[in-house]
Amino acid sequence: MSRASRREALLALSGGAATALAPSRSTEAAASPGSRDWSRIRDRFAIEPGLSYLNTGTFGPPLLETLEIEAKDRLAMSRNYPVHFVDHYMTKRLPDLVGQLAAFIGASFDEVAFTTGSTESMSYIANGLDLRDGDEILATTHEHSAGAYPWILAGKRRGCRLKLATLKTPVRRTQDVIDTVAAAITPRTRALSFCHINYTDGYVMPVKELVALGRSRGLITVVDGAQAIGMLDVNLRDIGCDFYAGSLHKWLGCPYGTGLLYVREGMREQLWPSVVESYDGWDDTDFYGRKAQGPGANFVDLWPKALLKYSSNFHYFGPLFWTLPAAIGFQLEIGKKGIESRIRELGRYARAELSKIDKIQVVTPEDPASYAGLISFEIGGGNTFQFSRSMRVEHGVVVRNVTHLPIGFDVVRASTHVFNTEEDVNRLAAAIRKKLA
Ligand SMILES: Cc1ncc(COP(=O)(O)O)c(C=O)c1O
Repeated sequence: MSRASRREALLALSGGAATALAPSRSTEAAASPGSRDWSRIRDRFAIEPGLSYLNTGTFGPPLLETLEIEAKDRLAMSRNYPVHFVDHYMTKRLPDLVGQLAAFIGASFDEVAFTTGSTESMSYIANGLDLRDGDEILATTHEHSAGAYPWILAGKRRGCRLKLATLKTPVRRTQDVIDTVAAAITPRTRALSFCHINYTDGYVMPVKELVALGRSRGLITVVDGAQAIGMLDVNLRDIGCDFYAGSLHKWLGCPYGTGLLYVREGMREQLWPSVVESYDGWDDTDFYGRKAQGPGANFVDLWPKALLKYSSNFHYFGPLFWTLPAAIGFQLEIGKKGIESRIRELGRYARAELSKIDKIQVVTPEDPASYAGLISFEIGGGNTFQFSRSMRVEHGVVVRNVTHLPIGFDVVRASTHVFNTEEDVNRLAAAIRKKLA
């Protein structure tokens, strides 16, 4: 039997092919934000009592259920690796698990690999492309360090160069952003790499338009989606990018150390793996020089092609990902749209309340369509790191600073997730007033 047909047979045996595209709890209820008692949602997340946790953009508190699953599965796997991990998870459950995630983000089964977070995903992308001396990678001044340094590192080895298009703050018109990026493309540009949601000012980039622009100029398109999955109703097929880096441990509620690498069908051939334990997915010769026969009756026959090629050390961090059905289930229970609209509602409330404070200046754009759950503000001088620290230590309100001094950007940022309430925002506003009085 050929390797491909064995894989199909195994998928069918495991029930994977059928279930792969169907989330187990598919109640896509578009709850209107007003119709739910949001205050009770908090009990489902790991948050210290008494804390107003407004920093999901950095570390998202995991859902308690996911921590329980991870602990249980790690213990079971540690006690009896072959039975619990190989026979049960890798053989029976993996296709369903990947299928649920793929369906949730609008990808297909073979396009998704698991990583420890967006940093690793961005590193795999920058490291794995055949970039050449003189190539330019175009990004923006609002990248996270994880969206910039992997390209800089690639540049040191290969002679390619990261170029930044300057985005103004606050963004006033979407078209300005598109025009700025378009004007920075040169004949040397090979790849366009930018955030789905800027972690700096919370601006939701015109991701589809930028991807379309990149493709129309023949560029590889890379989206750093660390802030988007679990915050917005993300659909990667609709976005159309070649590569997408995602974090599952921020807005989705999985335990820390969970991320994804999306490689669009047709692009695997252009991306080398960075971590390899076998020839799977990238070579047809084993290390004895023999023509590869496929691994025989091995569980990796079931692995999605991207997972096979890019996550060859997945078996060590597998239990982190057995939590995905619970995290996706939570989102589908409320509805992806319901989650997004509550996050946006609370974001608007935060923006409005913070805008009332004279001594600070909100830099998150005004148009409610162009931001969601990240709200940033300048404090009018003073140290934003110390300011954020004092919010946490003196007032029990967790926010963070985002500081890019070379471009004069220095803010405090609040995140609004569904476990937050208007009361958390009021507490932040009162703490700021007190601090700046
Ligand atoms: C835009 C952006 N990219 C990348 C990262 C890094 O993500 P991770 O912690 O999943 O590696 C972050 C984290 O805050 C981010 O905001």
